[in-house]
Amino acid sequence: MNYRHSYHAGNHADVFKHAILLRMSQLMQRKESPYCYLDSHAGTALYDLQGEAAGKTGEYLDGIARLWGRDDLPPLLSDYVASVGVQNGTADLRYYPGSPQLIAQGLREQDRMILSELHPADAATLREHFSSDARIAVHERDGYELAKAFLPVAEKRALWLLDPPFERADDLERCLKAIQVAIQRMRQTVIALWYPIKDERLLRDFYRQMAAAGVPKVLRVELTVRPPDTTLGLNGSGLMLINPPWPLWDELERDLPWLAHELGLSGAGAWRLDWLAGGP
Ligand SMILES: C[S@@+](CC[C@H](N)C(=O)[O-])C[C@H]1O[C@@H](n2cnc3c(N)ncnc32)[C@H](O)[C@@H]1O
Repeated sequence: MNYRHSYHAGNHADVFKHAILLRMSQLMQRKESPYCYLDSHAGTALYDLQGEAAGKTGEYLDGIARLWGRDDLPPLLSDYVASVGVQNGTADLRYYPGSPQLIAQGLREQDRMILSELHPADAATLREHFSSDARIAVHERDGYELAKAFLPVAEKRALWLLDPPFERADDLERCLKAIQVAIQRMRQTVIALWYPIKDERLLRDFYRQMAAAGVPKVLRVELTVRPPDTTLGLNGSGLMLINPPWPLWDELERDLPWLAHELGLSGAGAWRLDWLAGGP
């Protein structure tokens, strides 16, 4: 396990993933009844953007820093930037919340979180960070086992972020299997699977398999900051949203063009939104 998220925290992929994840959690909370948030590859709670790792790559400068302090943000982004602001107050942008912290900030008394992280140091930091909150359980274990271990949840409503580092060639395949297990165990599970867009051709099989996975509703959302066939690295990223809550589609259609424009490099930002299975 070489991947460390501290080098990438707050980059364009985090902005895209976290803004949508936050909105999904808000939509889960329209009902008073509790829901359970699962984060199988949790990372840690807070990242220091002035620390050594973030300083080495400077990736956040083309991500969250482009939105910070703006007063023209569309709704999806303004809630998200406000949530990042919770850690920074009126000061300069310094601390960036990872997905567990972002969701924990809005957790209600009746909600619950299950986090797993395999890196011992990050798991320990996460456990320490949330130690006084009885609603949040941290497990140092393989995130791909989460569905088998915890679904169905007693709340009968779950939102699962599936966000592996994609260090292994078979990670997309493992994600597909884990999603199928989750849906078999609890059909209404809402899942957000994040994936990198480096070479679009490599994703074609994945799209086909996702469409044929027997999952009721699959919404594909993508944001690219460079042309998708550029060989420089992470050209963008996507989210496969399983059973996405209504009216996410409309909100994404409204705000993604703005985000693609703001995060695109040399004017090359683009976005995509379509159903691979099911529909509205
Ligand atoms: C992309 S990062 C997570 C970022 C985090 N979800 C966020 O949005 O802030 C992926 C994390 O998965 C962890 N990891 C790698 N393999 C894992 C596994 N099999 N199970 C659980 N965690 C794993 C890595 O240590 C890393 O912290």
